Amino acid sequence: MSKKFSVPRGTNDILPEDSPQWQMIELKSREILKNYNYKEIRTPIFEETELFARSMGQTSDIVQKQMLNLASQRKDENENIQLSGLSLRPENTASVVRSYVQNSMDRKESLTKLFYFGPMFRGERPQKGRLRQFHQVGVEAIGPNSASPYLDAEVISLSVEMLKSFGLNTFKLKINTLGSPEDKNAFSGMLRDKLCVHLGKLCDDCKLRFERNVFRILDCKDKECKDIVKSIDLDHSYLSKESSEYYSEVKKTLDTLGIEYEESLDLVRGLDYYTHIVFEISDSSLGSQDALGAGGRYNDLVSQLGGAEVDAVGFALGIERIILARQKVEVDKLSSLSTYVIALDYASMQKAFTMLNVIRNNCISSDMSFGVSSLKSQMRAANKAGAQFVLIFGEDEVSKNTVTIKDMREGSQRSINDDEVVQYLTGILKR
Ligand code: HAM
Repeated sequence: MSKKFSVPRGTNDILPEDSPQWQMIELKSREILKNYNYKEIRTPIFEETELFARSMGQTSDIVQKQMLNLASQRKDENENIQLSGLSLRPENTASVVRSYVQNSMDRKESLTKLFYFGPMFRGERPQKGRLRQFHQVGVEAIGPNSASPYLDAEVISLSVEMLKSFGLNTFKLKINTLGSPEDKNAFSGMLRDKLCVHLGKLCDDCKLRFERNVFRILDCKDKECKDIVKSIDLDHSYLSKESSEYYSEVKKTLDTLGIEYEESLDLVRGLDYYTHIVFEISDSSLGSQDALGAGGRYNDLVSQLGGAEVDAVGFALGIERIILARQKVEVDKLSSLSTYVIALDYASMQKAFTMLNVIRNNCISSDMSFGVSSLKSQMRAANKAGAQFVLIFGEDEVSKNTVTIKDMREGSQRSINDDEVVQYLTGILKR
């Protein structure tokens, strides 16, 4: 027997029965994003590996352990495969900033508000809610005019609005600030001071992190490291007066908007590019991988990637996790069909198929079984497709240039001339 193939580990098919959820999320997102005046951007799913290393940081877990690098066609003299220098995108902020710089968007407008949907790729150990290919909807607001606490509040409230529109309401928003790059330096100094007495008890990874990137210790999943992090008293003493005032204004604006949040002094996020505000939205029903989405400000990334000195803020939501959290919410059937065409014999097929196309060309959704089987089995197929009306063609209808129309909801049926079908259906469906 021939081998059967399965999807690669950590990836999923999105089957037709799952699609309505995805369509709903995309549709609601687009509606809200339009209201907030964000415009869509689509970038390639792979980029230069160095773009990701430079933006997220060499010491971030993603760059260290999770990059899916593309192999080159070439082999070296020992027949070893060489890397192409390209990687599948693990996230989209770096790509969007690359495009912003490449297309000189800073010269076109003082604030560029972009959004994206698409697959991201991380070579993680798969588990519930943690995939190798997953999808994000995200936004990035970039430009000389973007260093405003009101824009931070807009971005945070937008993420909350989107999640609510998907029917979620048990999530929690956590926020923190890392301050300016100088404040962030002071923060890492403070962390080293507080953690150095515990150094011997940290896991091996965290011992390295202590030297290379002390913030990563705050995200460590090791129980002992977690307990140590809990035991050290964190405060905002590393913040300058300016950064502190900026943070207060963001919080005040969130309060005015009635957005509930919790301040979490150990929230630092796993990517190096963040400065000032960082936030994460989680839902405890998801278990250990509980982040529905996250984001923050990244004021230095554009210049680090060769662009102008402009500021930026954004977030991304994980669509698979949203769907997991929504599981109990009833999904509306987005994809019901207006009509289903039935041919009772081969002699009626030409007429039935022509009608199918006439109806579709008049913007009425329609389908058929493309074969001739019993009325009963074709009616079953029409029912399964969610058709509102069934159009039946048989010997009698063809000879009289008529069609039998059955209203599936009311159960009634009538015969009308075949050249009146479109007008008839348009009138009824409008109502
Ligand atoms: P992130 O926290 O790495 O941030 O990812 C955002 C969201 O993507 C997570 O909260 C989660 O819902 C989802 N996600 C991440 N990894 C996986 C995975 N392996 N499987 C399933 N879902 C996953 C970013 O990606 C930043 N680019 C967000 C951002 C935009 N910051 C500023 N602008």
